[in-house]
Amino acid sequence: MKILVTGGTGYIGSHTCLALIAAGIEPVILDNLSNSKLAVLNRIEAVSGQRPLFYQGDIRDAALLDRIFQEQPIAGVIHFAALKAVGESTQKPFEYFENNIAGTLTLLGAMRRAGCFRFIFSSSATVYGDPKTVPLREDSPRASLSPYGRTKLMIEQMLEDMQQVDPRWSITLLRYFNPIGAHASGQMGEDPQGIPNNLMPYITQVAIGRRDCLNIFGNDYPTKDGTCVRDYIHVMDLAEGHVKAWQVCGEQAGLHIYNLGTGQGVSVLEMVHAFARASGLEINYKIVARRPGDVAECWADPSKAQRELGWKATRTLDDMTRDSWCWQQANPNGYEEEAHV
Ligand code: NAD
Ligand code: UD1
Repeated sequence: MKILVTGGTGYIGSHTCLALIAAGIEPVILDNLSNSKLAVLNRIEAVSGQRPLFYQGDIRDAALLDRIFQEQPIAGVIHFAALKAVGESTQKPFEYFENNIAGTLTLLGAMRRAGCFRFIFSSSATVYGDPKTVPLREDSPRASLSPYGRTKLMIEQMLEDMQQVDPRWSITLLRYFNPIGAHASGQMGEDPQGIPNNLMPYITQVAIGRRDCLNIFGNDYPTKDGTCVRDYIHVMDLAEGHVKAWQVCGEQAGLHIYNLGTGQGVSVLEMVHAFARASGLEINYKIVARRPGDVAECWADPSKAQRELGWKATRTLDDMTRDSWCWQQANPNGYEEEAHV
C-alpha cells in the first residue's frame, strides 16, 4: 500500500513517514524542499530501514502530480505541504494563499483525475481562533486570526463543500495542537530555518548556546501563572494519529474531523521548567511584551479521537522535552547537508 505524503521531508511529515513504515505502509514523498533538507531521507532510512520514494517538486505542478499518480499506485494522500509561519503570512499573504490554497486545489484536481479519493489534511488548532472556552471540541466555533489561519480554515471549508456533493471522498481533517519533541533515536527532529518562531526550538537553541535568551511573550494573561497555555503534543504521538486516521477513516467515505492533542494545558513557564528538568540546564529568559495574535489558552478535548480512532497521546511532557533536547544535542545545527546515497 502506497500513500503520497506531500511535505514528507518536513518536521511532522518525516516523523509520519516513520510511523507509516512501521505500520507496513509505503510513503511516497513529494516535497519542494522549500523548508526541509534532502538529508532527512538518509535519516528516515537509518531509523526505519526503508528509504521512501522521493519526488522533488511542487504541489502546484499539475503535470508532475499526474505523472506521480501514473507511476505509483497511490491509495491516498496525506497533505502536509504548506507554508506555516503566522508572522510571515501577515507580510506575504499572496504567497500563503497561492502556496497553501492554490497548491491544495491543484493536488485535489490531480487526485480526481487519478480516481484517488482518500485525503488526510494537516489542519491546526488555529482554526479555533481566540477560543471563548477550553477545552476545544471539534464542533467549537471556528475563526481565523491571520492569513495562515485563513488558509487552514478556507481549505477545511473547501474540502467540506467538495465532500458534500461527491460522496466518493473520504476527507479527514486533523487539527494539530502544538507538536514538539523528536524521534527517540535523536536522529530526526525539528529543524527550523533562521530564528525559530515556536517555543520549543527556541528553548533548545538557547540551551545549546545558539541564542542568548528566551523572550517570553507576556506574563499578564489570565492564566495560572500569567503566561500563555498550550497543548503540547509529542510529534511521534501525532505521527501515529495519522496512521490510525488512515486505518479507520481511509475506508469510510465521508467527512471526519479530529483534534490531535493531549488535553493537558501547559504554560510557557511550566515548559521552561520542564525543559530544565530534562536537560539539567537553566534556561536564560526574560519577560517581554505580548506577541500580537497570541491567544491566552488553547487546549484540546481529544476524546473524539480516542473514542473513534482508538488513538490517545501516550508520551509525557518529560518525554517531549527529553527527546527535543536529545535531537538538539546530537544535531546542534539541525540537518546538515549530507552525501546523498
Ligand atoms: P514543515 O515546514 O517542516 O513541513 C512542510 C513541508 O512542506 C516542508 O518540507 C516544505 O519544504 C514542504 N512544502 C511547502 N510548500 C510546498 C509546495 N508548494 N510543494 C511541495 N512541498 C512544499 O512544517 P510542519 O511543521 O511539518 O507542518 C506540516 C503541516 O502541518 C503544515 O501544513 C502545517 O501548516 C501543519 N501544522 C503544523 C503545526 C506545527 O506546529 N508544526 C501545527 C498545526 C498544523
Ligand atoms: C503558533 C501559531 C499557530 C500555529 C502553531 C503551530 C502564532 C500566533 N500562532 O502557535 O497559528 O498553528 O504555532 O505552528 O504564531 N513563546 C514565547 N517565546 C518564544 C516563542 C513562543 O514566549 O520565543 C510563547 C508564545 O507566546 C505562546 C507559546 O510560547 O504562548 C507557544 O508558542 P508557539 O510555539 O509559537 O505556538 P503557538 O503560538 O501556540
